[in-house]
Parts: sequence; structure tokens; C-alpha cells
Amino acid sequence: MASAVQLSSTVPDDARVVAVPVFSDRRLPAGVEVDVEFLEAVGFEGKPGETVLIANGSLPATLAVGLGDPDTVDPERLRRAAAAAVRAAWRAEGLSLALLAGAPDTLKRPAAAQALTEGALLGAYRFTKYKSDADACRIRRIDIIAKGGAPVAAAVDRGRAISAAVAMARDLVNEPPEAATPRRLAQVATDFATEGSGLTCEVLDEKAIKKERLGGLEGVSRGSAEPPRLIKLTWDPPRARASVVLVGKGITFDSGGLSLKSADGMMSMKMDMSGAAAVLAVMSLLPELQLPIRVVGIVPTTENLPGGKAYKPGDVLRIRNGKTVEVLNTDAEGRLILADGLSLAAEEEPNAIVDLATLTGACVVALGKKVSGLMGNNDGFIGEMKAAADRAGEPAWPLPLPVEYRKDIDSKVADIKNIGAAGSAGALVAGLFLKEFVADVPWAHLDIAGPAWADSDDGYLAQGATAVGVRTLVELLTSGAFPRKSRRTARAG
Ligand code: BES
Ligand code: MN
Ligand code: ZN
Repeated sequence: MASAVQLSSTVPDDARVVAVPVFSDRRLPAGVEVDVEFLEAVGFEGKPGETVLIANGSLPATLAVGLGDPDTVDPERLRRAAAAAVRAAWRAEGLSLALLAGAPDTLKRPAAAQALTEGALLGAYRFTKYKSDADACRIRRIDIIAKGGAPVAAAVDRGRAISAAVAMARDLVNEPPEAATPRRLAQVATDFATEGSGLTCEVLDEKAIKKERLGGLEGVSRGSAEPPRLIKLTWDPPRARASVVLVGKGITFDSGGLSLKSADGMMSMKMDMSGAAAVLAVMSLLPELQLPIRVVGIVPTTENLPGGKAYKPGDVLRIRNGKTVEVLNTDAEGRLILADGLSLAAEEEPNAIVDLATLTGACVVALGKKVSGLMGNNDGFIGEMKAAADRAGEPAWPLPLPVEYRKDIDSKVADIKNIGAAGSAGALVAGLFLKEFVADVPWAHLDIAGPAWADSDDGYLAQGATAVGVRTLVELLTSGAFPRKSRRTARAG
């Protein structure tokens, strides 16, 4: 991965490739000079993400990067343009991004610079740890060409920190399931919650999980030799203005358990801890971001395997909040561990709870690989989440939690069961299930089953883990837009 991004007021003398913006129909932003006849001759139009290298044998070479319609250039377009430039200059030593000239005046310079930094660094990401002949990005240095100013410099710093957190989350998800175990996730959390970081980390092992009555997590973990963990990270600044709890699904491998998946169905199931990885990544960023809100990250994590002690269809589990669940399909395991995580979250009496989970195949059917499902119990907060997701370029679409479907999880033997009617609103039923565990705290649930994994490189996403949700959560936390505590909750807290 490219080692450094820095601000530079002019293109450095030793630059190898300079990326310049070109709008659709080869229109040029003010101050940008490119040989338009050359562009026309090679059929370059200026569409978003299009690139062509204009090299005449001397350095630096000019890389034309398409930005599309100048009136609609936004941070996402800049992220993708920066990533496209990085891909086009993949084996060059250094890359100068002179792309800010293409940002409209309505877009603030710091936001644009942050977007370019993120796009460049994330575009340079590739998981090569286990490859002998890796074609890793050879760009050693990326210069963002911009007239400085402290806010722009701070934005580049922020973009760099966020990109590092995204890369950490992608690495965790891309690691083989044998490596990214619950114990490993706990180790990662303890490692970044160092003394003086302002973060504290608590880890419950299998004994403590039982003692704390986390019956969902305990039940799902029974079929594995690898022990479960409950990770709790806390960022608690003085005079915190609000408090938020983030919960991430941490199934480090989902075989389906005794309700075993097909061979095809489990091929990608090392990614079933994408929610957990995102929450860990966001928590790791808080010392850098120094936000004035209390943030608690809760990660229930276990494998879901069909060992001899595995939980069985028909078993009844008692969740942390006291509710009992009849397990009728051991492959609907995510909601069981999240039930404990959400119960713990509600006990914190925060302003809001957000959970991230690769929860249902049904959500992928409904919304595909590029859009997450967004559900919750508070329309205002769902709106804030959607806005944050849009700003991050991680689209999420609100789905309903119809009360009419609540009876689908009525159980004959326990309070509720863990599946609804086959083939009917699977993503919503999962959401309705989770809703049982958040008490009356404003809550948003992001089903990231589709967007968590990219089948091929796309923009600043590399094939494999995307770490979707990290930048959405950073946007949400930075915006500080949380529901006020209801009077009852406020008094209790
Ligand atoms: N981890 C899966 C959901 C999933 C599927 C994520 C595909 C990413 C891609 C989850 O634990 C699961 O197995 N869900 C079941 C629920 C069903 C048994 C009610 C599903 O979606 O089939
Ligand atoms: Mn499953
Ligand atoms: Zn799962």
C-alpha cells in the first residue's frame, strides 16, 4: 500500500505522474491544461473513473482523470477519481493528485481534500499477505496538490487516519478464518486500547460470557473448539455531549451450524465478522478523532460450527435481557449473538444504538451488493443514519419493520423463535427480532450482508472485504446528530 499521502502546494520536481481532472466531453476546469486533441484522438471522453496517460517521454507524465458532469462533482466522485488515478499509476514511484481543480466551489476544500486522500489510499489497498507474487501498489508517495491552510491539512490527516482504520477492518475480514478468530479480534482490540489512548477495553471469555448470562453467544459458540469472546471498548471523554453504543456481528466463520450451509454458501463466510471489524476499526479511530461523545463498542464474537456439542434446532436459549428464544435454524445465529450485544447496549442507556451485521441473504436479494438495508425504531435517527451513509458513499436504504410481521417470530415454546416464515421478508423479520432487545433506546440496524464483500475491484473498493460501515459510522459520530434522551431514560441515567 502506498506509504504516504501529503499536502503539497505545487507539483514536486521529482513527480512521476500528475493526475489532472477532465470533465465530460473533454471540458477542462479553469487553470487545467491538457492536450484536448490528444484526448479526442484516443477516444477519452472524461467520464467518471476514465483515465488515460499522456506520456511524451519526459517526466512527469500527465494522467487525465475523468470527473464527469462538473455540476454534480461530489466527494464520492473525487474518491473514485483518486482511486482511478492510483490504479492507473499503480507501478509508478510517486503520484501527484492535482484533482482539486475539478471540485465545484460549493464543495468545501477540506471535504474535497479528505475525499481525495481516502480515495487514493483505499484505491491502493490490496490484501497480499498470503501471495508470493503480489502485485502490490508501488506508489511510495502521493501528493495532494492544494493551497494549504490548517483546515485542509487537518482534513488530509483525517482522511489518512480513516483510511488506515478501513484498511485494518478489511485486513481482519480478508484474513482466513483460522487466523481471525474471536480471540484474535479481542487481542486486536486490547492492542489498540493502549494506556493513555483514552480507550478502555474489557474482554469476556467463555466463562464470563456464561456468568453474565449471554445465552445467545454461549449457545452459538457451543459447536466450536475455538472459544467465544465479548469485546467491549469504551471512549469516555470528559463532558461528553451524548452517548452512542455500536454493536457489530462477529461470526468469524458461519458454517450454518447443524443447519449446515451448502459448500457454495459457506465459501465467503469468513466475512461474517464484517460488522465486528467495522466497529473495532471505528473504535480504534476515536483517540485520533477526539469526538466529544461517549462511544461504546460491543462485539460478540464466535464461530458457528456443527461440533458434537453444537446447539440444535429445538434448543431454547435465554438472552441477556431475560427473553427466551427457540432456535429453529442454527444458521440464523447472528441475531442470537446480537441479541446479547444489544441487551448490553440498552443497559448503557445511551442516546442511540447502532448495529452492523452481515445478517441476511434476504437483504442481498432485496438490495443487492451495493446497498445496505437500514431498519430501526426511530425515523429521525434512521434519517440521520441514511444521510451519514450517503455522505460516506456507502448507500443504505430504509426498510420497514411492520408490526404485522411480528407474529412471524411467535414461538410455541419460548418467547420468540429465531426464524420467520421461509421466503418471506427475511431481512425485516431479522430486524423485528433484534428490536426485541433494544428496549426503548433509539436504534438503527444496518444489514451489510451485500456490500460487505466486493466480488471485483470497483472504484476505491478492492476485491474482497470492503469495510463498509466504517466511514458511515465516522460520519454519523462526527455529525453528532443523535436523538435526545427521553425524560425517563435521562433520569435513570
Ligand atoms: N451470515 C448469514 C447471512 C449472509 C448470507 C451474509 C449471505 C452474507 C451473505 C446469516 O447468518 C444467515 O445464514 N442467515 C440466514 C438466515 C435464515 C436461516 C433465516 C439466511 O440469510 O439465509
Ligand atoms: Mn448464518
Ligand atoms: Zn451469519
